[in-house]
Amino acid sequence: MPDGFDREHLRGLVTVTQTPRLEIRNLVRAFEGRRVVDDVSLTIMPGQVTCLLGPSGCGKSTTLRMIAGVEMQDSGEIWADGQLVCDTVFRVPPERRGIGLMFQDFALFPHLTVAKNVAFGLSGSQEDKRARVGELLERVDMARHAESYPHQLSGGEQQRVALARALAPQPRIMLMDEPFSGLDNRLRDGIRDQTLTLLKEEDTAVLLVTHEPEEAMRMGDEIALMRNGKIVQQGAPYNVYTRPVDRATVSFFSDANVVRATVNGALANTAFGRFLAPGVADGTDVDIVFRPQHVRIDFDRQGSGPLPTPSDGVAARGVVVRARFLGHESLVEFRMEHDGSLVKATVPNVFLPAAGKVMWLTIPRSRCFVFPASRG
Ligand SMILES: Nc1ncnc2c1ncn2[C@@H]1O[C@H](COP(=O)(O)OP(=O)(O)OP(=O)(O)O)[C@@H](O)[C@H]1O
Ligand SMILES: [Mg+2]
Repeated sequence: MPDGFDREHLRGLVTVTQTPRLEIRNLVRAFEGRRVVDDVSLTIMPGQVTCLLGPSGCGKSTTLRMIAGVEMQDSGEIWADGQLVCDTVFRVPPERRGIGLMFQDFALFPHLTVAKNVAFGLSGSQEDKRARVGELLERVDMARHAESYPHQLSGGEQQRVALARALAPQPRIMLMDEPFSGLDNRLRDGIRDQTLTLLKEEDTAVLLVTHEPEEAMRMGDEIALMRNGKIVQQGAPYNVYTRPVDRATVSFFSDANVVRATVNGALANTAFGRFLAPGVADGTDVDIVFRPQHVRIDFDRQGSGPLPTPSDGVAARGVVVRARFLGHESLVEFRMEHDGSLVKATVPNVFLPAAGKVMWLTIPRSRCFVFPASRG
């Protein structure tokens, strides 16, 4: 070892430059001339869960099918542990990719017992297989059902068996396509957490498809947000939620209020005061976007509201249209006096002002996003 290098230091470098478990580069797939997957690249490390999140039809399942090898890409490459799995010339067949699959219609084999279902993809001696099946059924808490048949199990129990079956051959990579959507809320939370724990323990790289932001935030170390075949934003859930790249991204995660304004001297003037719009040319329209939970509500005091501040801007008058109790929060809708637009606000716990009541709304500047005006 040359002078000046110590082993510990090198070890640190090695972990930093760890090889991705799964890497896809510039994947493209078109159907009838339309690119449904359009230049998608992703990197997933061992033990990392990435959620591919996006609306129906944006190309999520097609992306997964190409990685699994049941759909062929038009261009782009798939790599696993630094080895080429598939490009347009070379192709490892699906069964040799070391990839586990768990899809929404995870159908177990109806004529096989739980234990035989889990053992299905395993090779090795009978004894080894029996041990692995026993261990997995234990871990998904289904050991007592080993000799049951699928029709004797509830949906959640079947799903746990399906998870054990997918994990049995110790896949390096797990592809999951809306695997929890058939379950009711109560069951789903438990199974999601259990699944995550198991996958992390096995150091599997996971690509999980969902169209529910809540599921993606709950499950993902990273979220890759997909729209019209492209990944529009990628990062930790907190970053994607708090630093959305555009208006559609805000709306995808939550309700969003939008105020449109024209920029003059790098400022957008609105009834809520001025907003900074640095670098935006004079005369350009911008959308000021803010979430209902960030609207501040003040009572009317003899015709006036709170005084303007630099951080909150100016208060604007609105009239309560309706208020609804949603359990952990209340949703109040206002008709703004200055232009008749609707603004939604949510308030923790119970807040149910009567329709017709006049109140003052402010928007904290740190909580709003200014984007170029979008159509629609
Ligand atoms: N074999 C095919 N032939 C033609 N069009 C297809 C084919 N497979 C998928 N598509 C189209 O590609 C687009 C993306 O489909 P995909 O199944 O990847 O969407 P998705 O994001 O998984 O949607 P969902 O959330 O509804 O499952 C859709 O418009 C779909 O109709
Ligand atoms: Mg799909």
